[in-house]
Amino acid sequence: MIPYDKRSGKIWYNKELVDWNDAKIHILNHGLHYASCVFEGERVYDGSIFKLEEHTSRLFYSADRMGMTIPYTEKEINDACNKIITVQNVENGYVRPTIWRGSEMMAISAQQTKIHVAIATWEWGSYFDPKLKIEGIRLNISNWRRPAPNTIPWDTKASGLYMICTLSKHEAEKQGYTDSLMLDHEGNVAEATGANIFFKDKNGRIAYSNTRLFLRWNNKKNSYRDCKIKKYKGS
Ligand SMILES: Cc1ncc(COP(=O)(O)O)c(C=O)c1O
Repeated sequence: MIPYDKRSGKIWYNKELVDWNDAKIHILNHGLHYASCVFEGERVYDGSIFKLEEHTSRLFYSADRMGMTIPYTEKEINDACNKIITVQNVENGYVRPTIWRGSEMMAISAQQTKIHVAIATWEWGSYFDPKLKIEGIRLNISNWRRPAPNTIPWDTKASGLYMICTLSKHEAEKQGYTDSLMLDHEGNVAEATGANIFFKDKNGRIAYSNTRLFLRWNNKKNSYRDCKIKKYKGS
């Protein structure tokens, strides 16, 4: 596999289209050292981004919860996402907008840091191996729990929340599983390490965990998750 810093094309970086290999940060960077970073993950199906506006809204919500003001409007970010998939000619893939604090300060207090934005995209067919989609995947149960709401901005897509996801996924892979089922701090089913979990009963009814500890859109009426269920059902 080609490493992600050695690919070709362009990345949208603070409003410029820069060469893929030049989209760099300095080693002394607040986002890297203190996890002052939020992101989104968006699928591209047949050349269009699924629920782009909802994802962008969630990105702004995550940034706001982390005290970071994105120096662009939601429309500018939507336009940038559409532009970069066109430039990169992505038909069925993934879009990764990322927001992080820069290098202006290197301490806990980061009030004067600049907020940076980058958007990368690449072809990516399926999160899990397509063969496993038919066969089914095996999950272990993670030893790590999703954090309680009073411990971290739990309902955001903040990079710091992924520490336990990587630990859990590695442990699952070591034990021969595909992924790990994560419970919330009360022991309810929450999600996998990088995916939602839905249950389908014998009658085709779809259920999902009742836990509140999901990303923001999953708790709203007509939520993002309902849209995904509709897509799954083909309606
Ligand atoms: C931990 C985690 N849960 C759930 C999801 C699915 O998120 P959504 O479908 O709301 O984008 C993701 C996607 O990246 C994730 O990383």
